[in-house]
This record gives sequence, C-alpha cells and structure tokens, in this order.
Amino acid sequence: MSSPVGFLGLGFYVPEKILTNAELEKVVETSDEWIRTRTGISQRRIAAEGENTSDLALKAAQAALADAKLTPQDLDMILVATMTPDMPCPSTACILQAKLGAPQAAAMDVAAACSGFVYGLVMGQQFVACGTYRHVLVIGAEVLSRVVDWTDRSTCVLFGDGAGAAVIGPTTRGQILSTHLGSDGTKADLLKVPAGGVAQPASVQSVEARAHYLKMNGGEVFKCAVRGMSEAALKAIEKAGIQPEQVKCVVPHQANIRIIEAVVERAGIPLEKVYLNVDRYGNMSAASTIVALCEAVKEGRIKKGDYALLVAFGAGLTWGACVVKW
Ligand code: ACO
Repeated sequence: MSSPVGFLGLGFYVPEKILTNAELEKVVETSDEWIRTRTGISQRRIAAEGENTSDLALKAAQAALADAKLTPQDLDMILVATMTPDMPCPSTACILQAKLGAPQAAAMDVAAACSGFVYGLVMGQQFVACGTYRHVLVIGAEVLSRVVDWTDRSTCVLFGDGAGAAVIGPTTRGQILSTHLGSDGTKADLLKVPAGGVAQPASVQSVEARAHYLKMNGGEVFKCAVRGMSEAALKAIEKAGIQPEQVKCVVPHQANIRIIEAVVERAGIPLEKVYLNVDRYGNMSAASTIVALCEAVKEGRIKKGDYALLVAFGAGLTWGACVVKW
C-alpha cells in the first residue's frame, strides 16, 4: 500500500456528569481504595438522560471536522465503533450521518468492542489507501452506563461514557505505518451482553435474569488482555520497522492501570511513555483509545516526527495495534 494515510483532524467529547468512586460507594458495596488500587480509576463520566451514543459521537465528530478544517459534506464515509449502539438497527453511524448532515457519506458500525476504534481505523485506512474515498470519519463512542449492571460491583465500577473521533485521509501527519488486528472467538463467553440479540431476544425472563447487562470474567479477561495487547504491540512495532525504544508515546486502551503496566513491561517500553487517562474516565471501550490519542496530541505528548503506538483489546476477544508517525 503506497499512498500515505494519516490523521487530518481529531476531536472528543465526554459527558458533563462526573461519577466519583466516593459516590459509587453509595451504589454498591465498594470503596474508593479498592477501585483505585485494583484499577487506577478515580472517576468516570455518565451520559445525561436522553443523551445517546450518536449524540456523544456527533460532538466528537464536529470537533474533529473543525480540527481538520473540513465540513460534513467533505466526508465520504462514517465508521462508528461501538458496543452500545443507539439501537440494534439501524446503525449508529447512519443515525449520526443524519444528525451531522453528511448525506453523501457511506455509513456503518464496527463491532469489535474495546478494539473497535483501532479496527475502524484500519478499515478506513484501506478505503483511503486504495483511492476509493478521500475523507473517512472514524469514531469510537459508547454509553456503557446503560449496559452495566449497577447491582454488580465487579463490573459497574470499571466503565464510563465518552466519544472520540478522527478524520483520516491522504496526509503524512500521523501517518499510519503499520497495523495488526487479531481475534479469538473461542473466548467470546468471557465478556458479553447475553440477551437482546436473536440468541436470547428480549423477554420477561431475560429482563428478570438481568441478561441485557454486561457480564465479565474479570480475572480471565485480565490475563488475555495482557497477552493480547503486548503481542499486538510488538507485532505492529516490528511491521513498522522500528525498535520499541523508538516509540515516543504509547496510547493504550484504558481498561485498567495494572493491565497497561504489564503490557508495556512485556513490550519493553517504560511506563513514563504511556499516556494515561483511565483515572479520569475509566474504561470507555471503543472510545478509550481515541480519546486518549486526542488528549496526548493536545497536551504535546505526541509531536511532529514522533512514533506513537495505539494498542487495544476487547470483547470478542479482539485486539489491534498500529504505529503512526506524527
Ligand atoms: N469493590 C470491592 N470489592 C470488589 C469489587 C469492588 N468493586 N469488585 C470485586 N470485588 C471483590 C471480589 O468479590 C473478590 O472478593 P472475594 O475474594 O471475597 O471473592 C475480591 O474483590 C477480588 O476480586 P478479584 O476478581 O480477584 O480482583 P482482581 O484483582 O482480579 O480485580 C478486576 C478485578 C479489576 C475486575 C480485574 O480482574 C480486571 O481489571 N480485569 C479486567 C477487566 C477489564 O479490563 N475488562 C475490560 C477489558 S476488555 C474491554 O475493555 C471490553
């Protein structure tokens, strides 16, 4: 693939409402100390009533378009990575396309859970590199607060809401040098929302069984995440033809500080090079990696000429990494 594909603009949005660990202590039997030491999370954002995934995505998209100095009419394609779509059908990307006012853009969702933004980025890259499209809007957006079980302390403390967006196109700014994607469907049961699809349609029984909420085997996911993310990171670094020490900034999926620490240790990269926001937002699934990238660039942690590594892991299981040169 010869034509360079990179980032024309970046933007993100997180809801105003902050839910602190201290407030969570009143919801489930937990403590600020337990949550911080086990996960690194201090607070998370919660979408307002009536504020849906497409609404968060819209605000992030508008910020990314402004950064790229483009209008919605310039977009050829919209990809929304999410595991919390506004509804099962139509796609959140189509709902966003109407809200944004981009009638000429093709639109679809990407279902790869927390790896969704990296998956979407790689998909968009193909369309631009082949010359099919010039401007692709890639979004990671989630309202996880509506699929977590607020009576289950082992999951509800981990997640938050937010959205991040990137306009990618033919540019050498943030040029995507290498990518690596993977999945393991044999471990699908480790992290899932069992009901609401055709396997278990909504029924009185499914609601009573709380089967529409996220279920997770945290310990197993933890181990798989460390292995999957570190291997994906090393593969992307190798494919980019650089050494781990040349990476200036690692932008990982922000699920848990202990997962991130273990991943960079295995990849031979010091923790000081990692951009972290898990303390402020918790795990925003598909939105995590892109929101962190937006903040890392905004705060000057990634500058022109730097190599940055994006790496993510999620339900599926899925994982993905890419090296970009800013
Ligand atoms: N507050 C207090 N105690 C709790 C809480 C809580 N919120 N949650 C669980 N506990 C208790 C458990 O009941 C258990 O008690 P027990 O020993 O009496 O049975 C004890 O704490 C220890 O539980 P563990 O599961 O052993 O704790 P662990 O150190 O493994 O941490 C955690 C749990 C944070 C969920 C961890 O396993 C983890 O982070 N896993 C990965 C989760 C993740 O990141 N998922 C998403 C990745 S993919 C994606 O983003 C979609």
